[in-house]
Amino acid sequence: MPIRALAYTSQVAPGLGMDELDHLARDAARFNLQAGVTGVLLFDGVRFLQYIEGPEDGVSVVYARVLTATSHFDLREIAQGPVAGRCCPYWSMRWVPADQSDIDFISLGDWSGFRRGNADAPSTGVDRLANILRPQINAGSLSR
Ligand SMILES: Cc1cc2nc3c(=O)[nH]c(=O)nc-3n(C[C@H](O)[C@H](O)[C@H](O)COP(=O)(O)O)c2cc1C
Repeated sequence: MPIRALAYTSQVAPGLGMDELDHLARDAARFNLQAGVTGVLLFDGVRFLQYIEGPEDGVSVVYARVLTATSHFDLREIAQGPVAGRCCPYWSMRWVPADQSDIDFISLGDWSGFRRGNADAPSTGVDRLANILRPQINAGSLSR
């Protein structure tokens, strides 16, 4: 089945607390599971960077929910398009704390074609995202 991916950044809406963010991510994970979508939501306290991947119709319906959510604003799409396979199959959705510099570094990577390059010297956005997620994945916290 062809897989599509999508990445964007956005700014958190004023007043969204950690409880609300946990709730939002759980709601997203439930929906994404049904839609066959996996991915991750990085959050630095101010900005989100979300990466989602899955079947075309699943990604479309999830993105429609993302676009209408009032818990964030100033959404800037980084990239969207077909991918050869999933690079983030671990979670239907999960929010992961990140530094502001992580989100800058990932979003400024080369996202063309969602290419994977060299994990030791990451220049593509997907490699940079994968490097940030590696400790979480190695910690074995794969279900949420
Ligand atoms: C940053 C962010 C990421 C989201 N990611 C997803 C997602 O992956 N899947 C999904 O179904 N909904 C997603 N949503 C929608 C939320 O799960 C939830 O339905 C929505 O935020 C509730 O509406 P509100 O933000 O207007 O209160 C996301 C929302 C935001 C703000």
